Amino acid sequence: MRAVRIHQYGGTETLQLDQIVTPEINADDVLIAVKASSINPVDWKIRQGYLKDFIPYELPLTLGWDVAGVVTAVGTEVTDFKVGDEVFSRPDITRSGTFADYVAVKADEVAFKSSKLDFAQAAALPLAGITAWECLVDVGNVQAGQRVLIHAGAGGVGHLAIQIAKAKGAIVIATASTKNQTLLVELGADQAVDYSQAALLEQIAPVDLVVDTMGGEVQAQSWALLKKGGMLVSVVDQPNEETAKAHDAKCAFVFIQPSRRILNELNTLVDNGQLTPFIENRFPLEQLADAHLQSQSGRTRGKIVIEVS
Ligand SMILES: NC(=O)c1ccc[n+]([C@@H]2O[C@H](COP(=O)([O-])OP(=O)(O)OC[C@H]3O[C@@H](n4cnc5c(N)ncnc54)[C@H](OP(=O)(O)O)[C@@H]3O)[C@@H](O)[C@H]2O)c1
Repeated sequence: MRAVRIHQYGGTETLQLDQIVTPEINADDVLIAVKASSINPVDWKIRQGYLKDFIPYELPLTLGWDVAGVVTAVGTEVTDFKVGDEVFSRPDITRSGTFADYVAVKADEVAFKSSKLDFAQAAALPLAGITAWECLVDVGNVQAGQRVLIHAGAGGVGHLAIQIAKAKGAIVIATASTKNQTLLVELGADQAVDYSQAALLEQIAPVDLVVDTMGGEVQAQSWALLKKGGMLVSVVDQPNEETAKAHDAKCAFVFIQPSRRILNELNTLVDNGQLTPFIENRFPLEQLADAHLQSQSGRTRGKIVIEVS
């Protein structure tokens, strides 16, 4: 089968289209024929070696941790899927990834694909959608009527977080540059904030929850935007507990894990018409390097999908 692998850490020149043996499955795995995958910043961060002290990968490594496709084999212990099922997943990031014709995934990390989504849309949802859900619901415990600030609302995580927060009844404030203000409103934001026009503090009244997908200076500015007792959840930079206390706020860091439960929650929103992934661009597997470069620009609107078959 085809797989785009890195044989060493580095730039996009390390991405190599290889012919390799189709993976064997464990008793608790399903084998998925990949129809589509999608790009997440973690792909190029891993390619650059950013996580190598955290996850000791064996190279060569197939990147990519979103998948939508069709089950072509099931392990001996798997009872909930059969050959031919249309599924999607954010597989375990410590295993070989999804920029390939086939991927072996633990069955309990897989969910049925909603019939409302095609394979490209389903591949755009798992990693970014699980992240948005964890920040807002599992950790942020968002409640109807609360004011929620979503940084980078036009990005992969942010554009899904806006829709999930709206579905939960929150009042959503989202940030982006000038060119993405209309997109924020189309996604459902109650207030679209242009971070390039004025300081956030001048534009945003106090909020109950901040979803921080930027870290650094954006996180630093966010503390002053929280109501007393509010919460900042970051997926980029571990927030400082002392800083949180100084602002009478709570904080948390999220690093997501695979979750069939959350995939099914996302499916429910999709089926209710409350959640639709926005795909900015599609690339074939052979052009993965171009897709990485586009994601690395930091300007992605919604998701970049890799069409595999
Ligand atoms: N910890 C975890 O488990 C986890 C999970 C998922 C993602 N992440 C991390 O979360 C981050 C975001 O992921 P993603 O997939 O959403 O990235 P992404 O799709 O690449 O985000 C791109 C978006 O960022 C926006 N942006 C750039 N600078 C901004 C600023 N100063 N203020 C507001 N928006 C800004 C851009 O909008 P404009 O062009 O309008 O500025 C663009 O739409 C990445 O670092 C990723 O690695 C972590």
